[in-house]
Amino acid sequence: MVLPITANINSLGHLEIGGCDTVELARQYGTPLFIMDEATLRGQCRTFMQAFGAKGIEFDVVYASKAFSCTAMCQIAKQEGLGLDVMSGGELYTAIKAGFPMDKVLMHGNNKTPEELALALDNNIGRVVVDGFHELELLDKIAGEKGKVQPILLRITPGIKPQTHSYIQTGQIDSKFGFGLQDGLAMSAVKKSLELKNVELKGLHAHIGSQIFELGSFAKAIEIIMEFVKQIKDETGFVAREFNAGGGLGIQYKAVDEPSTIEEFASVVVDGVVREAQHLGLPVPKIMVEPGRSIVANAGVTLYTVGTIKEIANIRTYVSVDGGMSDNLRPMLYGAVYEALLANRAQEKATTMVTVAGKHCESGDILVRDIELPHPEAGDILCTPATGAYGYVMANNYNRQPRPAVLLVNNGEARAIIRRETFEDLVRLDASIE
Ligand code: LLP
Repeated sequence: MVLPITANINSLGHLEIGGCDTVELARQYGTPLFIMDEATLRGQCRTFMQAFGAKGIEFDVVYASKAFSCTAMCQIAKQEGLGLDVMSGGELYTAIKAGFPMDKVLMHGNNKTPEELALALDNNIGRVVVDGFHELELLDKIAGEKGKVQPILLRITPGIKPQTHSYIQTGQIDSKFGFGLQDGLAMSAVKKSLELKNVELKGLHAHIGSQIFELGSFAKAIEIIMEFVKQIKDETGFVAREFNAGGGLGIQYKAVDEPSTIEEFASVVVDGVVREAQHLGLPVPKIMVEPGRSIVANAGVTLYTVGTIKEIANIRTYVSVDGGMSDNLRPMLYGAVYEALLANRAQEKATTMVTVAGKHCESGDILVRDIELPHPEAGDILCTPATGAYGYVMANNYNRQPRPAVLLVNNGEARAIIRRETFEDLVRLDASIE
């Protein structure tokens, strides 16, 4: 599944998503344009809920909103019964505005500001996942001032390096995140939390990385964390009742990618925790996971309009589109590889090897290198699939490019859930000195 589940080619030979002709959407709303398929979004939420629900344990599937945060997406997660992971004041504010039940929200971040912690406390956030000693003391102090006791999890770095891009590995010892196990900091953090009056330790959290295909790293992390739970019990008498295994399940960016399924992920996590708990004589904790990418990535596509085509004989053909590193930074940051197709000629045979370039003033602004397309022409609508995660949320205004609109499509209807930025939006924070 690279394209959304509702993707089709209609009688005009156009790519259709959610019952909408994408070429028509591009004409109506302009490009670049993000399209999110509601059926795929809800389908992924439900698959997660069913996969964990089938295991007969207490669980929460917590959508990691950093993958795609906006009011409508928070509302979809809420309607599907998921919790929400926020990692900044902005993501929290979005959740508040979306009417998300705050007891189902948890807050991450390796450097939460006093203002962010205060906002979380004022809104009675469900859990704060504490990432360091400075934060632990700060949270205890602010909670005390507000007369509250904040339930917390501690983020533990288990010392695991999954196979993925180094920028999105987070479980290894050399990481800015969490309390390391090896150097004893994790145990100190547990003891400190148990002493503090205005925080209530509920359990542990470990997120080892993102876009992970092989589930063995999750199994290993679970083993390590559960052994730590036992060690905590032996040393302090405290029994952790919650375990959050983080997100990280990989997705299919290209047809050849073979990620694990949601069901396989649920089995590795739940069976692993249950097995370890039994083996160590511990109660099975409530299990949480925090999928982001695997919920939203394949629901989204980006549409661009083809402009300049530059053929360099015997070297390369550059096909330039009207977006680029301002709406999809992933190829430039992680060397991420995408597919591409022409939405207006979706049935035609791919005959020409091209490189899809963005419109920004950098040679590195390449969206897709060496891909075969039907011979492209100016005015074609180029579609890159699997851009629903870490696309719009990492969009920027480089070269004062307005950020695209995001449409939610379903049953032949399209709704703009984020409107396109205008030039006026771009200067609204500027002050004139004349
Ligand atoms: N939980 C925590 C604590 C996280 O840090 C993350 C992602 C997630 C959950 C969700 O992980 P997911 O299921 O989406 O893999 N910008 C990068 C990805 C950064 C991931 C950051 N943390 C990219 O575009 O690949």
